[in-house]
Formats: sequence, structure tokens, C-alpha cells
Amino acid sequence: MNIIRRPRRNRQSAAIRDMVQETRLSVTDFILPVFIIDGQNVRTEVASMPGIHRWSLDLLLEEIQECMDLGVKSFDLFPNITESKKDKYATESYNPDGLYLNAIRVIKDRFPDALVMTDVAMDPYSSDGHDGIVENGKILNDPTLEVLGKMALAQAQAGADIVGPSDMMDGRVGYIRQVLDEGNFHDVAIMAYTAKYASAFYGPFRDALDSAPKFGDKKTYQMNPANSREAMIEAQLDFAEGADFLMVKPALAYLDIIKLLNDNFHLPITAYNVSGEYAMIKAAAQRGWLDGDRAMMETLLSIKRAGATSILTYFAKEAARLL
Ligand code: PBG
Repeated sequence: MNIIRRPRRNRQSAAIRDMVQETRLSVTDFILPVFIIDGQNVRTEVASMPGIHRWSLDLLLEEIQECMDLGVKSFDLFPNITESKKDKYATESYNPDGLYLNAIRVIKDRFPDALVMTDVAMDPYSSDGHDGIVENGKILNDPTLEVLGKMALAQAQAGADIVGPSDMMDGRVGYIRQVLDEGNFHDVAIMAYTAKYASAFYGPFRDALDSAPKFGDKKTYQMNPANSREAMIEAQLDFAEGADFLMVKPALAYLDIIKLLNDNFHLPITAYNVSGEYAMIKAAAQRGWLDGDRAMMETLLSIKRAGATSILTYFAKEAARLL
């Protein structure tokens, strides 16, 4: 046969496949989301996320040490707040003696080389389970920004390296930037949840934090999964308002959005490989329907190939072991 171009030539050995490989994962790509809960010596598995736990701070420190030893040095903290401490205005979110701010201080003190990213959103602390202040069934935008500003400032004071507004209120990146700068926290970075979609894939996360909305859904603030041009508007705003990172969330059903933002913006793009994406692979692997390790690595690689600079993923520790 006269076939001039034979792409298989570059696939014929492991050595040549490795040589022409375009995308590679590294442990430094990963940010591990971790769930913190009150108490001592507590480690409870999230039922819908096998292998992922809610940790009390004492045990979380040991877990962070293990991750650091594997080369995973970036962590995004999420608090499970007792129902009795939740209220309409999420006031617990800026209580300096609360679970979350204390955890930031202790982790930064114990691991100065770790990168601590925080979550700036009302939902874990809100008695309504929403990311904004609720009035007559409506989620208020501007009054919510004031809460987010207090929360972000308190997190910066506690030692956060990056704050991550995850709520999708309008104008929050610019508002938080201003509050941080007025507080002299010019070096604290903002990772904007730029294109965060109203997704079914957040279910297991809401189990982990007991943070599901008490009524309605999040469609008046999170984006419609049908839209990609709208992601460009969000990205332009976050860029103009001073974001240091743009994030796309979830990752797998939104690889085109990761590519879109990577092609059009010169900021680092982070992708959030969310709880439901983790749960799907774990559930299939437990049943023997998928090779869990291979599905995990292929998934993470695809997110990077699409254009993500870094990946928030519950697989961080497991993938680091394989790398
Ligand atoms: C809410 C928030 C959510 C996640 C991170 N921050 C869920 C939601 O919007 O209800 C989801 C993360 C995941 O599913 O892994 N501020």
C-alpha cells in the first residue's frame, strides 16, 4: 500500500509515545478541596464521595502533612457548620473564633509553605442554604457583597493566600479587591469562580456540608448550562475587576468553556473537577464497571488538555500517588 502519512509510526513504542505526548499532569497542577468539621478526632466519610472525609482540625493537619509529602501543596478549605450557628446573614463566616478562620490560622502557622485557598460564599453559613441574603424569596445582590467583603477580609487576616468567591453575585470580585486593598492585603489573590454553572454535579458537595438550598434552586445566580457566550461576559468582568485567576466549574461537561477562556484570556485558568464528577467515577469503579485509576487520570488529563492551568480535584492525593 502506498500510504504516505502513517500516524501510527509515532505510537509504536512507549518511548516514542512518551516523546510526542503533548499534555502532562504534574502534582503541582492540583488543588485539593478539604472539608472541615468541629470537634476532635473526627473523620467521617461523605457517603456520596467514597474516600473523602470531613475532618476535625487535629486530623486534618495530619492529612495535610501526608499530601505535602506527596507534593500536593495547595488546599481549598470548606467548612461544615452546625445548623445552630447558621443565620440569614451568615454572620458565623466572619466570627474570628469560628471553626473556619481558626483552621486557616492553624494550617498556615503549621505549614507556611502550603498554599491556602478559601471559599467566599454564604451558603455553608446560611440558614436559607443560599449564596446570598434572601428576602421574600429573592436573592439580593448588593447587600450580599457586604457580607462577602467581611468574610474575605477576615480570611485574609487569618492568613489566606487566595480567596475564592464561589457565589456568582455581580460585582463581587471588584468589591472584594477593594476591601482587601483598603485592608492592605494587596498580596492576597482572588480566584474568581468565573463561569460557574447551575449544575446537578454539586449534589455530593452539598451532602458533605449540609448546605443544600432550603427552597428553590441557584439558577438566578449560577449560569445556565446551555450558555457559552455568557461565560465571556463573566470573564471580561472578572478580568476588569482584578481577578488573578479565572475558574470554570464544573469541568467535564464544560471542557469547551475551559478552552474558550484559555484562548481568550491570559490569566491562569483553573477548572473545578466537582464532587459529582468524582462520585461518578468512584461509583462505577466500586461496581467494577470502570478501571477507577485509569478513568481518574484520563479525566484529569482531558481537563488539562482543554486548557486548565490548575485543577481543583478531590482526586489530588490519589493522582499524586500514581504520578
Ligand atoms: C457554593 C459552592 C458549591 C461548590 C463549591 N462552592 C456548590 C453550590 O453551588 O451549591 C461545589 C463544589 C463541588 O461540587 O465539588 N458556594
